[in-house]
Amino acid sequence: MPLSSPPASDHSYLNYNWQGGHESLKEEKSYWIEEIDGQIPMDLQGTLFRNGPGMLDVAGVPLHHPFDGDGMICAITFEQGRAHFQNRFVRTEGYVAEQKAGKILYRGVFGTQKPGGWMANAFDINFKNIANTNVIYWGGKLLALWEADLPYQLNPSTLETIGLDNLSGLLKPKTPFSAHPRILPTVDGPRLVNFSVQPGPLTRVTIYEFDESGECVQQRQESIPGFAFVHDFAVTEHYYIFFQNPVTLNPLPFLVGLKGAGECLKFQPHQPTKIWLIPRDAEQPIQKLTTDACFVFHHANAHEQDGKIIVDSICYDTFPSLEGDQEFREIDFDSVPSGQLWRFNIDTAATTVHRDCITRHSCEFPTLNPAHASQPYRYIFIGATDDSQINAPLQSILKLDLQSNTSEQWSAAPEGFAGEPIFVPKAGATGEDAGWILSLIYNGAEHRSQLVILDGENIRQGPVARLHLTHHVPYGLHGTFTPQVFISVDEKET
Ligand code: CO
Repeated sequence: MPLSSPPASDHSYLNYNWQGGHESLKEEKSYWIEEIDGQIPMDLQGTLFRNGPGMLDVAGVPLHHPFDGDGMICAITFEQGRAHFQNRFVRTEGYVAEQKAGKILYRGVFGTQKPGGWMANAFDINFKNIANTNVIYWGGKLLALWEADLPYQLNPSTLETIGLDNLSGLLKPKTPFSAHPRILPTVDGPRLVNFSVQPGPLTRVTIYEFDESGECVQQRQESIPGFAFVHDFAVTEHYYIFFQNPVTLNPLPFLVGLKGAGECLKFQPHQPTKIWLIPRDAEQPIQKLTTDACFVFHHANAHEQDGKIIVDSICYDTFPSLEGDQEFREIDFDSVPSGQLWRFNIDTAATTVHRDCITRHSCEFPTLNPAHASQPYRYIFIGATDDSQINAPLQSILKLDLQSNTSEQWSAAPEGFAGEPIFVPKAGATGEDAGWILSLIYNGAEHRSQLVILDGENIRQGPVARLHLTHHVPYGLHGTFTPQVFISVDEKET
């Protein structure tokens, strides 16, 4: 595609443009978005909540990895063709303490250390709940999620932190609660399904189903052998599906203060990836299948068809970790594995797994029409590199047609870097791709971000609207859309 300015290398981007998206956004803002190219669709009503590390340094001291950054929620509220932006940090216990102290007080899972060298960090396993991975609105509550601890509840209109939420006593203190819940349609209405993974020689997996009021109506607990690093799972009508990546954990460098726990994972290329099928029916036994070694953070979707289970997942050849003291802003994308979309066909009767690569195009953050979650489906929308042949930051949105095996792409290269796309169904439409695709794009040349709205039926034509924020938003992780229009009382009057 034509580039508006010649890049300094054969890359689709300039490294310093990409690096700007890893700067903290310390100010908290609330304003109506004025600078808009195109028109916000009138039927787009509701609130896009996004979460991600907003603080990439503490008092100027950079964190070792962005995943260690304190969670910052952005809310973009759409109402009658207008849009309002608001961002606020989650007032976790650790955030409040560190901001007050003006220095790093906690070790991060991904290698951030307290000042003072290894001796100051040895045997300190007291992690900070950073509430930075996802944000959901369910059962009348807005919850910021981080997989290793309880959620934080927030006020959906003001984004003010209410506090840790144990879900009506369901979760004991320090219980892990995944940042990747799934919404499953059932005959009793939609269920929010989520899980917790408690590591140990036997990994304890607990799955919870919540009805629309937020009440836990079903729960199942199982133990699986060995260490498991599980970030996401998949759900079908009859099964919860977990991929146990072939990684081992050597906690010693972490315990003696040399590395973060996340840096102590070692990929085992000669061991299989284990796939655990846990029936939703508690009377049915769990089942283990295996496939060739791969590493999965995210699943796109799963469904049952003709007695088989089909799971679509982003796979890496190996665990995409950083080596030792490598500075993440200097990452060489050519040297790290890229995520590629694969389809797993699981035959529970024959206990076989057959897998095929759907696309080699480097991609992450899949989304789809929520009406097709856990159902047969045709379209995936996903963040992708500009160039399908290389690994690089995500700069484009890819629409994959799984039926015709074709794809369509819109790219923000060379200056733009793409965040997770979110699919919002068009009002009254029934087509599977009839939706608005929302993605927060960081523009490295302007050091500002913009929310783009693409038409899911034709993403190649480019955004129907670009909403220019007055500032940048650091690269985020996950978010969700709710049709409720949340906005603080003060702003409603302006
Ligand atoms: Co994730």
